[in-house]
Amino acid sequence: MKHKIFAANWKMYKSPQDTQMFFQNFLVLPGDSTLIFFPPALCIPAALESTNSTHVKIGVQNIASIAEGALTGENSATVAKAMGCQYALIGHSERRSLFHETDVALNQKAKFAQSLGLHIVFCVGESLDQRKSNQTKAIINQQLSAGLAGLKNENLIIAYEPVWAIGTGVTASPEQAEETQKEIIDWLNANGFSSVPVLYGGSVKPENAKELISQPSISGFLVGGASLNPESFAQICQA
Ligand code: PGA
Repeated sequence: MKHKIFAANWKMYKSPQDTQMFFQNFLVLPGDSTLIFFPPALCIPAALESTNSTHVKIGVQNIASIAEGALTGENSATVAKAMGCQYALIGHSERRSLFHETDVALNQKAKFAQSLGLHIVFCVGESLDQRKSNQTKAIINQQLSAGLAGLKNENLIIAYEPVWAIGTGVTASPEQAEETQKEIIDWLNANGFSSVPVLYGGSVKPENAKELISQPSISGFLVGGASLNPESFAQICQA
């Protein structure tokens, strides 16, 4: 049976109190799955404290590519690591579009995170226009080749998140997801990144999780909206 990875991206939702409450109600099943939470940076201490005797891993949603500096508002990966974070989320489509993060900038962040020993969840995905004009494969290959340049294949997870499926309620069909996930795995294998898990993200919910996770190229999920509720995220993790 494949090892499954379930990652929760809380974006800018929840306070430290909400975070504590979530973990009081989230039933962490002992098991083989890897569970990763990316809370808002200001809730990381509450998340670490709430999960410290469990196998839940905590990550930071965004990092700078240098250890320290005059970067108002940025998160230091060095500090996140020292606090107890084990993961960094890099290249989410909201960072790419709203914060204008380029492939080159994302590659620098990823390289810096790896140099610190942080695990990376690196996101790629095409827009609706790109899918409609048959550019999905080319766009994703470009995001992978620029974003992963010079990275090691250890401590690396890819998340395929079609931009048109994020927060829209529209999920890629299992066949659509599988086709692109398989192309990503082929690209990874051809470029020296063997055995790198590839997650699917984009409107994953309890109702569609089972069918998606049964696709051979999907190793787990990166979940936004449905991860905010402890019951619905637990159902997804048990799919
Ligand atoms: P969603 O978000 O599950 O709400 O679509 C996924 C993500 O942004 O990672």
